[in-house]
Amino acid sequence: MRIDAEALAVHLAGPVPPSGRTAWLRAGLRRAVVDGALPPGTTLPGARALAARLGVARGTVVEAVQQLVDEGYLTARPRSGVVVSWQPLARGPAPAAPVPRVPSPGQPDGALYPRAAWARLVRGVLARVPGDDLGYPPPAGHPELRAALADHLRRTRGADVDPDDVVVVAGVAQVGALLVAAGLRRWAVERPGSPGQGAQLRRLGAHVVEAPVDDRGLVAAALDDGGALDAVVVTAAHQYPTGCVLAPERRQDLVRRARAGGFVVVEDDYDAELRYDRDPVGVVQALAPDVVVLAGSVSKTLAPALRLGWMVAPPRLRAAVVAAKHTADLGSPVVDQLALAGMLTSGAYLRHVRRVRSAYRARRDALLEALARRAPGVTVTGVSAGLHVYLAGLGAPAARRAHAALERLGVAAQVVPGGPVHLPGDGLVLGFASLRDAAAADAAARAVADALG
Ligand SMILES: Cc1ncc(COP(=O)(O)O)c(C=O)c1O
Repeated sequence: MRIDAEALAVHLAGPVPPSGRTAWLRAGLRRAVVDGALPPGTTLPGARALAARLGVARGTVVEAVQQLVDEGYLTARPRSGVVVSWQPLARGPAPAAPVPRVPSPGQPDGALYPRAAWARLVRGVLARVPGDDLGYPPPAGHPELRAALADHLRRTRGADVDPDDVVVVAGVAQVGALLVAAGLRRWAVERPGSPGQGAQLRRLGAHVVEAPVDDRGLVAAALDDGGALDAVVVTAAHQYPTGCVLAPERRQDLVRRARAGGFVVVEDDYDAELRYDRDPVGVVQALAPDVVVLAGSVSKTLAPALRLGWMVAPPRLRAAVVAAKHTADLGSPVVDQLALAGMLTSGAYLRHVRRVRSAYRARRDALLEALARRAPGVTVTGVSAGLHVYLAGLGAPAARRAHAALERLGVAAQVVPGGPVHLPGDGLVLGFASLRDAAAADAAARAVADALG
């Protein structure tokens, strides 16, 4: 089909402007093509005719048309002229359902994020970072951060780690993704555990089974065929969600089974720095650096938004993991890596952790006091740590009612179907990070008490 200059002018919005005519004509023609006013195969009028109709220079038309030819909307055919070649997008399969954005009970209070200190650290990095460091980073992470993390993990978590063992990642969540990409496809996660973790591994194509949890943590003996697994996730320092600590004999048993079964233990050390009544129990990784992957991040101590974490992998996995990190994103952002390195080496990180520890400890204490007063029958499990408590065995209707009431208060909570083996029945995770004063703690406890009826 051929369109003449008169008909084409109708599709160009508004009068010809006094300046910027090429840009105006290019935008008008592109819109007419994409909107379908000029269907594929339509032949445009000659440049001279269109220029005369619009009252612009012929060169303006030639330039606008040539730009759309260069961009692939139009094709110039010898003898037959310029033809519309853009094809409307084919209707593909329905887009995947969006991943719901549910507030996590493990989310820290954004008000405690050290904005001014972080801004100073970033300014300091920008003042001194050599230009060479602003290229793509080493995929395993910037050497300064790897060294600072190795030192930090040795001192605060008792980890068996050298700088070369550390891979900087985009949070604990990326550790699962990298290990799946490195070929670990058969996983076991804790039940109950982090719902997001199991779902993420399944979305990545892994086969995921669940291992029960009791008051001493993961029951590895229940993994009847450890040889059929590549990886077992454990939240040893503070089980998510029940809050217990993996018992010493369970640690040894897990490591023994990993060596015998040929699987790795993925130690999710997500909130270990937030222990309130004593120093946190050291990492399982130190017992067996040959079979344990240690994973942690600043998501609880600083902010999940930074997407900054670490992974310490056994030597046999390291090359595959670093290759997977390179494939995933070509490395983590360097300015943030260097800011965190500076925060760690200057002692500012530990000072900040001490500050948030005392704030969260007070919030947890206030919640427990309010729950004991308002809902004395509720069993709260777990050690004094982290950003959440677990309310055991509420039963499905009460857990759902409490969840809805807490949501209305803006308090993050999650129903835990089934509960751990020693305290069965649906339970509830309640995040206390946002409960800034006694009144907020009391309101949350009242919501739970009312839900129990
Ligand atoms: C148990 C557990 N593991 C891992 C994560 C993910 O942490 P990250 O932000 O480091 O990916 C969370 C987040 O809340 C969590 O609760």
